[in-house]
Amino acid sequence: MGIESSCDETAAAVVADGRRILSSVVASQFDTHGKYGGVVPELASREHLRAIVPVVRECMEKSGIGYGDLDAVAVTQGPGLIGSLLVGITHAKAIAMTHELPLIAVNHIEGHIHAVLMDVEGEVRLPAVALIASGGHTHLFAIDEGWKYRLIGKTRDDAAGEAYDKIAKLLGFVYPGGPILDKLAPYGVAKRSRFTAPRMKGNEMDFSFSGMKTAALRWVESRDMQAEIAGRKAMWKSIAGTPTIEDWLRVTPQETLDLIASFQAAVIEELLHRASDAARDIGASCVIVSGGVACNAGLRKAAGKLRVPVLFPKPVLSTDNAVMIAAAAFRKAEAGEYADLTLAAKSSLPLY
Ligand code: KG4
Ligand code: ZN
Repeated sequence: MGIESSCDETAAAVVADGRRILSSVVASQFDTHGKYGGVVPELASREHLRAIVPVVRECMEKSGIGYGDLDAVAVTQGPGLIGSLLVGITHAKAIAMTHELPLIAVNHIEGHIHAVLMDVEGEVRLPAVALIASGGHTHLFAIDEGWKYRLIGKTRDDAAGEAYDKIAKLLGFVYPGGPILDKLAPYGVAKRSRFTAPRMKGNEMDFSFSGMKTAALRWVESRDMQAEIAGRKAMWKSIAGTPTIEDWLRVTPQETLDLIASFQAAVIEELLHRASDAARDIGASCVIVSGGVACNAGLRKAAGKLRVPVLFPKPVLSTDNAVMIAAAAFRKAEAGEYADLTLAAKSSLPLY
């Protein structure tokens, strides 16, 4: 069994042999955080507390097996929000104690990498490159023989998903902004000059997204957009449930759609450019892309044009889930890497 609670999803899954999903349950907290434009840590911890027992119960019921059939319980140790992590870890320890199961600690980022392997036939040939782009991380790793991770580059400021969420919030869209901007981008015309890719001093493989956020802010400030932004907020506040793409299009003029398209093109360029350079440098057999931003339709399309094969998880396994935690734990169980009941949550936990 895998348990994940590092950010704003409470998730549990049962996976057999590191590959076969017997059950997967994800409770998202979008309704709690939506109106704040981002995750509020204290509210997240409280929602995890509410959700963890029913989520784990549903996951066991759907799996068709009993606690006695489990081989181990795995849980995300970090990185993530400390209060959120604690809920999952404490619950996993309780299961381990009650049912006398070994406990396995998983790094959330390693989980995202393993989400990709669920749909790969056979083994991934190493070395490979892994790009993890989510609301909390934008990291580029080399995966060397023996599944040893080496950090090649990371964001110096915002994560890619965070940039999506912040620009969406600035424009009056609801959280999480990534999926909305991704769906609206094809309706706009990208202008390359609007968002220029930053040149990185020092490590050229590092990413930066804060300049894009500033460029969007300047663009908004240079226009009289208050009525447009207020109109969008009024629209989603008046709708019960999630607005459709048609709802958003009705309150978003062409100029704004063009800005969204330009931003999306710049993010895709920034991510794929560095990932493909890294793949060339280390002679990688493939690039693994995971994390919430891996759901991005524009990114998936553009990745098809790279010389090296790019592997994505299914969209449901790209965002936070517990299947990826159970899958990553399988390799650790094989290697005998178990944790004990002193396991502590780590808000930052490097994978190298
Ligand atoms: O991996 P994830 O579920 O949680 C973290 O570990 O952060 O990623 C969530 C992030 C959010 O920032 C969300 O806006 C972004 O992934 N995201 C997207 C898309 N779907 C989710 N960003 C761009 N395009 C998408 N289609
Ligand atoms: Zn994540």
